[in-house]
Amino acid sequence: MKKFVILISGRGSNMRSLLDADLPGRCAAVISNRPDAAGLDFAKARGVPVAVVDHKAYPSRTEFDAALATEIDKHAPDLVVLAGFMRVLCDDFVRRFDGRMLNIHPSLLPAFPGLDTHAKAIGLGVRLHGCTVHFVTASLDSGPIVIQAAVPVWPDDTPARLAARVLEQEHVIYPLAVRWFLAGRLRIENGRVLLEGEMPAQASLCVPAAQ
Ligand code: GRF
Repeated sequence: MKKFVILISGRGSNMRSLLDADLPGRCAAVISNRPDAAGLDFAKARGVPVAVVDHKAYPSRTEFDAALATEIDKHAPDLVVLAGFMRVLCDDFVRRFDGRMLNIHPSLLPAFPGLDTHAKAIGLGVRLHGCTVHFVTASLDSGPIVIQAAVPVWPDDTPARLAARVLEQEHVIYPLAVRWFLAGRLRIENGRVLLEGEMPAQASLCVPAAQ
């Protein structure tokens, strides 16, 4: 059976959606860069081995990344899943897990890479916002896109309300993407992800300007 590890930094709701999903693989460990990440308790309660690689204990990003890679390699995972893991990773680390590391980002990439995506979406008056699961590459919040989900942005939205609407979709698309990977259905060709086998129903969504 294939194995994956999940990297978190905090709440861990995406991790939870993955542990709750019926995936064709086993979560070998949840690893956090913060000892106080709330998600660790949930993982422990589920009997999933947890580990902390505290970034504050390392003098440089490179040394932290090396320690993190060592911890991940102990589990020999087929897939590394970044789920709210709030550290920028060095090129060497990204290369080591090339083609076998996924991330979820709370925007319709390539729009709004980085932080505060919901406030930015509201500030720019976009009508559609959403989330993206993508393979991790050396440039921040980029990399071949596996799946996206869109949600409407309403005129009276606050960043918190919009974030909650997006998060609901994150919990739908991340387990789907991880399932596809573990089932060997994803292939990257010319920087684009191809899904082998049956496609899920496509949803389309249009949101007009406010009246
Ligand atoms: C999610 O919005 C995810 O897209 C982003 O960080 C947040 C993590 O939330 N990368 P959680 O820890 O999974 O609840």
